[in-house]
Amino acid sequence: MTSSDVVHVAVVGYGYWGSKHVRVLSTVPDVEVMVVDQDRGRLAEAKRNFPAVDVTTHLDDVLPRAHAVVVATPPASHA
Ligand SMILES: NC(=O)c1ccc[n+]([C@@H]2O[C@H](COP(=O)([O-])OP(=O)(O)OC[C@H]3O[C@@H](n4cnc5c(N)ncnc54)[C@H](O)[C@@H]3O)[C@@H](O)[C@H]2O)c1
Repeated sequence: MTSSDVVHVAVVGYGYWGSKHVRVLSTVPDVEVMVVDQDRGRLAEAKRNFPAVDVTTHLDDVLPRAHAVVVATPPASHA
């Protein structure tokens, strides 16, 4: 497998449920996880628990390289 075969997955919302997605995805070979949350405290927590993940407050920062997106924010925030 080459580096171009890595699957980039963005998890939007690092709360109760999103943190579980990040935990599991972080164990999957050849998956790189990016975490998006509007709360910088939650991003700091994600980085503490999973130093390898990229974190950002803006979905637009990760969409260009994301192959898949997990939406784990409250339903009212869904499109
Ligand atoms: N908690 C559960 O047991 C459970 C089970 C199944 C599904 N879900 C679903 O998962 C989703 C999240 O639930 P939760 O319990 O993890 O919520 P939560 O409140 O624990 O976490 C939500 C996170 O999303 C972030 N967030 C909110 N709006 C955002 C936005 N616009 N952009 C970026 N980040 C944003 C918040 O800062 C927070 O960190 C909901 O849709 C819920 O229905 C939850």
